[in-house]
Amino acid sequence: MPVDEDPVQDKIDLSVPSAARMYDFLLGGTNNFLSDRLAVQDLLRTAPSSRELAINNRAFLRRVVRHIAADYGIRQFIDHGSGLPTQDNVHQVAQRIHRGTKVIYVDNDPVVLSQGRFLLDENDDVAIVAADMTNPEAIRSHPKVDGFIDFEQPVAALFVSVLHCVPDPEPARLLRETIKLLASGSVVVICQLVSEDKAVRDGVTRLMAEQTNNNWGRVRTEEEVRTYFDGLDIQPPGLLDVTDWRPDSEVLPRQRTREWIEFGGLALVP
Ligand SMILES: C[S@@+](CC[C@H](N)C(=O)[O-])C[C@H]1O[C@@H](n2cnc3c(N)ncnc32)[C@H](O)[C@@H]1O
Repeated sequence: MPVDEDPVQDKIDLSVPSAARMYDFLLGGTNNFLSDRLAVQDLLRTAPSSRELAINNRAFLRRVVRHIAADYGIRQFIDHGSGLPTQDNVHQVAQRIHRGTKVIYVDNDPVVLSQGRFLLDENDDVAIVAADMTNPEAIRSHPKVDGFIDFEQPVAALFVSVLHCVPDPEPARLLRETIKLLASGSVVVICQLVSEDKAVRDGVTRLMAEQTNNNWGRVRTEEEVRTYFDGLDIQPPGLLDVTDWRPDSEVLPRQRTREWIEFGGLALVP
């Protein structure tokens, strides 16, 4: 795939933490800067289990991609808010099951995009798109997506740990508009940060908004996330803490406190 122009490349301000780089730091990655690490220190004071939560979220992503590729036979993925490259990215997991699986990575963080081009754009079946997931039609008609993804065939649309980055009422709207573009038999993966403790919800939402120059949405409740699945056919084992979603033999650190969790699951487009 040719490397496209990057309209956000010159907007990098490394003194402002980004959700993508903070998450990278929590995962033990090296694509982060001092501002991100200081922001994570603040975050850990309010939400001390965030490191284990991030590691378990990433393990969920691997499991759900493997399940979709192996058991649903889907060979096209759009990973919305893909984040910084790490080990076992979506295309590596999916292409291990079906070589030739097409993967589009979408993100709007300039560091994700520049790193992604080197580390994710490994073969002709993978492309990285600089786009805002709140504009599904622009993603659908992007020159790297149009003709590369066949929207007449099932697609797996991933929204893993991303919807808390966008304010209300965007999650429900962008999901509705994305799902309208998908063929029957497509699947959607949705999970986001939730807390049933109002103090945690408000505290983390305020902290992240301050840290990221308002580039952030909201920690929500499980009930709110359940509404994102309206009209979809939720697949077993249902909606739950993604740590408990079809666990396998991988040894993972457990969250010792559960002040917040990643909540969601997998659904079929009827
Ligand atoms: C916490 S990371 C999740 C990464 C990956 N999905 C995972 O679960 O491992 C959230 C990602 O969403 C991206 N993001 C946030 N808002 C976005 C938007 N409106 N459009 C595209 N990407 C966005 C961020 O840049 C970041 O890379």
